[in-house]
Amino acid sequence: MLQNVRVAVIGMGKMGVTIAKALVQNQLVPPERVVGTTAHDKSAQRAHTETNVRVTTSNETAVANADIVILAVKPQTMFKLLQLLAPHMRSDQLVISLAAATAISKIENLLKEGTPVIRAMPNLPALVKQGMTVLCPGSHVQEMHIAQASAIFGAFGLVEVIDNEDHMDAVTALAGSGPAYGYIIIESLAEGGVKTGLPRSLATILAAQAMKGAASMVLETGEHPAKLKDMVTTPAGTTVDGIMALEEGSLRVALIKAVDAATAKSKEISKS
Ligand SMILES: NC(=O)c1ccc[n+]([C@@H]2O[C@H](COP(=O)([O-])OP(=O)(O)OC[C@H]3O[C@@H](n4cnc5c(N)ncnc54)[C@H](OP(=O)(O)O)[C@@H]3O)[C@@H](O)[C@H]2O)c1
Repeated sequence: MLQNVRVAVIGMGKMGVTIAKALVQNQLVPPERVVGTTAHDKSAQRAHTETNVRVTTSNETAVANADIVILAVKPQTMFKLLQLLAPHMRSDQLVISLAAATAISKIENLLKEGTPVIRAMPNLPALVKQGMTVLCPGSHVQEMHIAQASAIFGAFGLVEVIDNEDHMDAVTALAGSGPAYGYIIIESLAEGGVKTGLPRSLATILAAQAMKGAASMVLETGEHPAKLKDMVTTPAGTTVDGIMALEEGSLRVALIKAVDAATAKSKEISKS
């Protein structure tokens, strides 16, 4: 599906490099059909070494022959950049924007009438091929474009497609910020292990693998998390005492509030 397309990745930072690497390593697009850009020559050299694709500081040259343009610059850079780039772009190019809290209509308005735009929200575990990306199509997107974007982001994790762009704030708060909450949970569980005498390195591996295993069971069995929790919780066993301590510490409420607060912040940034 992607073998004959040319892809331009504008902004070869953490996400841009991850995407370019995934395209090439998964043999979705041959390296000579991928071009990346950075703001500085030194970063272009670094990104080229990491990905083996051509990386330039000329955005105009990069988009000129591209069929798919992936915008992976910071949201605050995006508008200035698009204003400069728009005259060099065509309405038959699929534009995929990674910019958080940036509405599709704002991007569409800067581009030629009819340009298909997809808003994508990936997350950091994409770096180890365990990403979660949510795609939201704009008004001119066709099935083929969704299939192409799904193939790109599917190269480093799961992909879900939603129609309602209003949900992108909650997606950002849950899937985008979620790994940060996960790291705090893993760090805290490991701290518990250290408190009871485990070496820190062992405690960290145990905590991380327990969370990874729990997550894999939810995804692979499709069971409700509460049912899986009950499978671990033997009557009068150890786990139920641990759960009681979690309930006393209001872990559930804290996590619900975390997603709620981050969603509110994303909405606030989107409006500004
Ligand atoms: N990181 C995440 O976990 C994550 C998750 C979801 C979405 N996102 C979104 O993904 C996008 C990229 O994030 P990131 O974390 O990958 O950022 P990053 O690591 O800071 O990379 C940004 C890249 O953009 C380049 N750049 C800046 N101005 C440019 C210009 N005018 N022309 C071409 N390239 C330019 C920078 O080049 P130099 O290095 O030369 O300055 C850098 O390579 C953001 O919109 C962010 O909201 C990120």
